[in-house]
Amino acid sequence: MLKVSAPGKCILLGEHAVVYGHPALAVSIDMRLELKISKLTTTSKFHMINGKEINRKHHPHIFDALQEIWSSKSQMLNINVSSEIPTSAGLGSSAALSVAIAMGLNSLKDKKEDLEKISTIAHKLEASAQGGLASPMDTSTSTHGGCVLLANKKLGDNWLYSRTLNDKKWEIHSFDLHQNMKNASIVIGYTGINGSTAQMVKNVKEKLDNNPELIQDIEAINALTALGVNAIENGDLEALGAVMNLNHNHLQNLGVSCKELDELVEVARETSLGAKLTGAGGGGCMIALSQNPKQTARDIELAGGRSYICKFGVEGVKIKDFE
Ligand code: PMV
Repeated sequence: MLKVSAPGKCILLGEHAVVYGHPALAVSIDMRLELKISKLTTTSKFHMINGKEINRKHHPHIFDALQEIWSSKSQMLNINVSSEIPTSAGLGSSAALSVAIAMGLNSLKDKKEDLEKISTIAHKLEASAQGGLASPMDTSTSTHGGCVLLANKKLGDNWLYSRTLNDKKWEIHSFDLHQNMKNASIVIGYTGINGSTAQMVKNVKEKLDNNPELIQDIEAINALTALGVNAIENGDLEALGAVMNLNHNHLQNLGVSCKELDELVEVARETSLGAKLTGAGGGGCMIALSQNPKQTARDIELAGGRSYICKFGVEGVKIKDFE
């Protein structure tokens, strides 16, 4: 039996601006998805997922991964999925599944761990399950862990590799978190509302078309992301929190926040270094960088959100057991 685990992610800075060619920064979080994979010894004609015959409609990522990676057509597999990552909340749950299944099947097959290959396959699985579109942000962060910067050009020494999908190209960079960053947690506040990423991206485009001056907000987010990268490398928690606060204001101007997110951000700021929405907005989650995570989490709960206290910059995909 093989056990593999992959982390979720949150976007620290740069969402929406990334759609207009600017960098965005994500970190892995210690909410993980775990897969257990074993070879079926019975003469089943189907792979089994959580005790049921596989069905593409329910498990597109796993189905496609089996097609792509698992060549031994007569050996059926028993796959169990368990996850701490809430789904449809912008925390990378489907990316963690794509990464874990790619890593698991690849390891069962040739036992070599090649993270760039895993992240490439996982990105393809995500894109195919989402009708052809997906940025490699979630899958590369879940694969490598730590802190990942996605940009449309190579930025300095932290460049890992380029990723292309159809006519789109991204440059993936990986950053080490300064020791000091371990002195804070990310507290996630989930509104319980599932915003649609595609719809929010469309709304921003319409808003920019009608109000061209809003491009200043996109450019400001770009500058803040660069400051955030410096803060992370220098271990300056206060600076990172301040940059997150400012980033949220620009996302509000772009119309992607909502009453529920703003309320959680406001209460979280009282006990944290900075707070902002994370991901597409219109619902989903906010994050707070906090050195008082229990208090911040309590205040988020009192304001009606569901809270999760997370370590961030944790290890990427890993094989936990090979029997
Ligand atoms: O909610 P998420 O984690 O899927 O993030 C969306 C981020 C956007 O910048 C709004 C869209 C994108 O494709 O990068």
